[in-house]
Parts: sequence; C-alpha cells; structure tokens
Amino acid sequence: MKSNLVHIVEVGPRDGLQNEKKLWSIAQRVELIRRLALCGFKEIEVGSFVSPKWVPQMADTDQVYSKLRDVIQMTQATRFSVLVPNEKGMDQGIASGVKDISIFAAASESFSQKNTNCTIEESFLRFEPIIAHAQEHGINVRGYVSCVIECPYEGAIAPLRVAQVAARLHRLGCREISLGDTIGKGTPEATRAMIQAVKDHVPVENLAIHCHDTFGTALDNILASLDDGVRIVDSSVKGLGGCPYGGAQAKGNVATESVVSRLPQYGYVTGIDSEALADAVKYVMSLG
Ligand code: HMG
Ligand code: MG
Repeated sequence: MKSNLVHIVEVGPRDGLQNEKKLWSIAQRVELIRRLALCGFKEIEVGSFVSPKWVPQMADTDQVYSKLRDVIQMTQATRFSVLVPNEKGMDQGIASGVKDISIFAAASESFSQKNTNCTIEESFLRFEPIIAHAQEHGINVRGYVSCVIECPYEGAIAPLRVAQVAARLHRLGCREISLGDTIGKGTPEATRAMIQAVKDHVPVENLAIHCHDTFGTALDNILASLDDGVRIVDSSVKGLGGCPYGGAQAKGNVATESVVSRLPQYGYVTGIDSEALADAVKYVMSLG
C-alpha cells in the first residue's frame, strides 16, 4: 500500500518571488527562507542563477545563498536548491557551494523559446555540461517540465509529449521530475491522463506535481495526482508566484498553507509545522 506521507517542496522564494512586481531585497528573501526553514519541507527553492536581464527578481541569488549558510548546515533534512538554465548558471552554483540544483525544460516548443530562448532540443544540449559538472561536484539535480497540460502559446499539450521530455530528464540523471501546470489550466481528468502517460516512462516515486492555481483547480489536480501515486507536491507560501514567460495566465502557485491544511482531510500527512508556516505567511503579508 502507498504511504500517506506527502512531501512538500516550497517554491515561494523562487517561483513566487520571480513574478513579484516589487523586488524583494536580499535581506527580505533571506528572512523569508529562514522562516520557511523551520517548517520541515523536503526542499526549499531559494532562487535562480538565470540572467538578471531576463528575471531581475532573482538577481543576487549567490548573496542570498551565502547568507543562508548557517541555516543550510543546521537544516539537514531540507534541500536548499537553485534553478540553473545553462553552464554559466552552473558555474555560479558551484562557486556558491550549492548541493541541489534544478534544470528546467518544457513540453512546448513555443514556451521553451519564450522562457529560455532555445528549442527543447537545444535545452537538452545545455543540460549535458550541467549534468557533467553536477556529477563531478556531487550535486543533486531535479528536473522540471513546463506546460504539462497547456501552453499559453500553443494550447493543449499531448500527454505523450510530456512523457517524452520527462523520460529524457530521468535518463539524464534527474533524481526527481516536477510536472508543471504552468498556467493552471489543468482539470483532475487531464492531470490524471498526463500522470498516467508519464508513469509509463518514469517511476511514480520520482515524480512531483507543480500546480499553478489560476482557475482555482490546483488542489483538485493535486488530489488526482496523489490518487495516481504521486507523493511530492510543489507549492508556494501565501500562493506567491507565476512565471514571467507564462503570460498573464500564469498566476500564483498553489498556496502551501492550503495544501498543508487540506491534505489531512483526505487522509494524507505532510509533517509540516503549521505554526512555523503561519509565521512565514505572516511575514509575506507584512511585506504585502
Ligand atoms: P540568452 O539571452 O539566450 O543567453 O538567454 P546568452 O547565452 O545569449 O547570454 C545573454 C546574456 O545573458 C549575456 O550577458 C550572458 O552573460 C548572460 P551580456 O553579454 O548580454 O551582458 N547570461 C547569464 N547571466 C547570469 N546567469 C546566467 C546567464 N546566462 C547567460 N545563467 C537564458 C538564455 C537561459 C540565460 C535566459 O533565457 C534566462 O535566463 N531565462 C530564464 C528564464 C526563467 O528563469 N524563467 C522562470 C523559471 S522557469 C518557471 O518558472 C517554470 C517552473 O516554475 C515550472 C512551471 O511552472 O511550469 C520551473
Ligand atoms: Mg512554476
């Protein structure tokens, strides 16, 4: 029987803040992550080593990471990861001493171009040296697939296309593949069809679901994924978020506090400290 323990990956400091109009200072980003570190997450995404011209909100991730060194050392049960798009980003990651990175691909050509200025094929060429460096330095790699349900530029995406990209990331050595409903167009039925296609190629233990909550269906889609055996859920404190290249449709990620409060009603446990989480939510609201 499948365990009822659901691991939460907190993406607010990266996926959340990358889309905020107001730039958060380094000190504010660090303070948010310090509070989140007390919650018991499996992983916290702390930023991105992407081009600051493309995503200014994620500039200075090296400084954020460096100011978290004590927390990272003390919080052994949590991974503190950063997004890396290319070798240049990987060099910054290595210089900062990161132990966990995420690479990101898309199941849609148009989204790949808008988000990373390259085709899907070219994105995999960029991943090769990243993976080689990761192996050399003992760095764990997570992989993302964006637009697993719909693309803001191409419309519906066939589950098989998602499965093919996820399988490639898995073969490359990604320990976990996060399936992103970038613009929140998922329904439980579409989510289930997509997960089932991906499960034919990647063990379900290696899959995470990453829902944006544009149309208020994220929790239902998460529950459909859990029904299908997924046990890793990405979410964002206070529902911060979006994607700078997802167009106006890419609204916030599903709120961590909603996931943590709702899942027990369906027999799942998350192990997240609700008081510590409430404190992190309060901090986000105070900057509101
Ligand atoms: P490009 O313009 O094709 O890159 O962008 P380039 O190699 O031609 O370089 C152009 C300039 O960028 C150069 O600087 C480089 O040095 C610099 P210049 O000579 O003009 O001064 N540069 C960099 N600077 C810092 N860090 C780097 C870096 N690389 C180049 N790593 C690139 C290609 C990939 C860099 C760009 O498209 C980019 O940064 N994209 C990031 C987009 C992004 O972060 N999107 C959001 C994250 S994905 C997401 O949110 C979806 C997800 O949540 C899942 C879901 O919901 O679906 C994960
Ligand atoms: Mg996202």
